[in-house]
Amino acid sequence: MTARRGVWITLEGGDGSGKTTQAELLERALLDDGRTVLRTREPGGSDVGHLIRDIVLHHRGDIAPRAEALLYAADRAHHVASVVRPALERGEVVLQDRYLDSSVAYQGAGRVLDASEVRQLSLWAAEGALPDLTVLLDLDPAVARARLDSADKPFDRLEAEKAEFHTRVREAFLTLADAEPERFLVVDAVSPAAEIADAIRARVAELF
Ligand code: TYD
Repeated sequence: MTARRGVWITLEGGDGSGKTTQAELLERALLDDGRTVLRTREPGGSDVGHLIRDIVLHHRGDIAPRAEALLYAADRAHHVASVVRPALERGEVVLQDRYLDSSVAYQGAGRVLDASEVRQLSLWAAEGALPDLTVLLDLDPAVARARLDSADKPFDRLEAEKAEFHTRVREAFLTLADAEPERFLVVDAVSPAAEIADAIRARVAELF
């Protein structure tokens, strides 16, 4: 495998935690610094992933938990192989909305699947690839819900889950961050967007 030369940053957090806003602000700052940035996301960051995203987010009716986990892992395998690794090999900054921590938090939070099995599945899919930095936007699900309600967008399958599910997702993300403090930056997502962006930029600067 060719050596990685770029920098890989992922953003994680519950639905409505402000990942998109922060990704946009960080992308602008990195571009201003003269860096080449690839913005991408999971699910749906590749051509095949686009099709998988439609199934996992919009399929009407149940998807068996293991099938759901495998669909996210399939999306991840193709995305890392065909989009992320090539960009890192070109020396670019990959700025990615969601990665394997989302699988552990969301698919593990259903309590049917074991979190470490979900993680192992994703690591197998991505041949062990882990980001240089993962920014966790931590937010009370009740606050996030109010934001989503006011955004007036239809809910996807996971957003439509009950409040208790989202509380478990939040706890799972915090547990993951605790386990890998060197990879994670946890920010309080109730803070003003500009303040959060400054904290992220300061940590990102250490990567170069
Ligand atoms: P996202 O793209 O953040 O949604 P939006 O377009 O509304 O901002 O994420 C889509 C959903 O997929 C989100 O509810 C979390 C879920 N998800 C998982 O359950 N497992 C995963 O591995 C990933 C990457 C996302």
